[in-house]
Amino acid sequence: MGIAKGGVGPVLMLTAFITHAQTNEHVIKYRQATMKAIGGNMAAISLIIKNRFLPQQNLVEHAREIQGASTLIESAFEQEVSSGRTDALPKIWSDWESFLSIVKKMEEESGRLVEIGTSGDLKSITQQVKALARSCGKCHKRFRKPKAKSYKQ
Ligand code: HEC
Repeated sequence: MGIAKGGVGPVLMLTAFITHAQTNEHVIKYRQATMKAIGGNMAAISLIIKNRFLPQQNLVEHAREIQGASTLIESAFEQEVSSGRTDALPKIWSDWESFLSIVKKMEEESGRLVEIGTSGDLKSITQQVKALARSCGKCHKRFRKPKAKSYKQ
């Protein structure tokens, strides 16, 4: 009787929910793929710096990739999706301007690394890599779930 009485409503609602969840999955996957690409470039930069190998031009290209990727973040995160297999905190959308200001910071710091990357001044380059890494950390600390609560756990 419950089924007859409940009727189509709950079924439709459930269908809508499932469709919605499926629709959002690519949004999460896209922004994570974008972040992974940024992470890959950052890892490459660290390897070059720590081992002092490869032409400096390689480092500059990785920094340029990060600078380019910073233009993707705003649109990648525009749609609010904070449930599912994601580490994005709802705070991103309630504090959108701060989020964007850190994107700008990352853009500036990676741009500076592009500028000085071939200078041969290893000390300044290392400092600039650290400044760039701080911009990542600033956003992750504020807008990303801590490791212990990550969807990866
Ligand atoms: C403006 C904010 C912001 C900045 C700047 C930022 N990130 Fe992220 N990053 C995020 C958020 C939010 C997530 C979680 C995304 C999700 O799970 O949906 C994330 C996730 C990641 C991930 C994990 C992706 C995965 O596999 O799930 C890596 C790696 C990463 N970021 C690297 C970096 C590096 C390296 C930098 C700096 C060069 C950086 N990020 C700068 C916000 C930012």
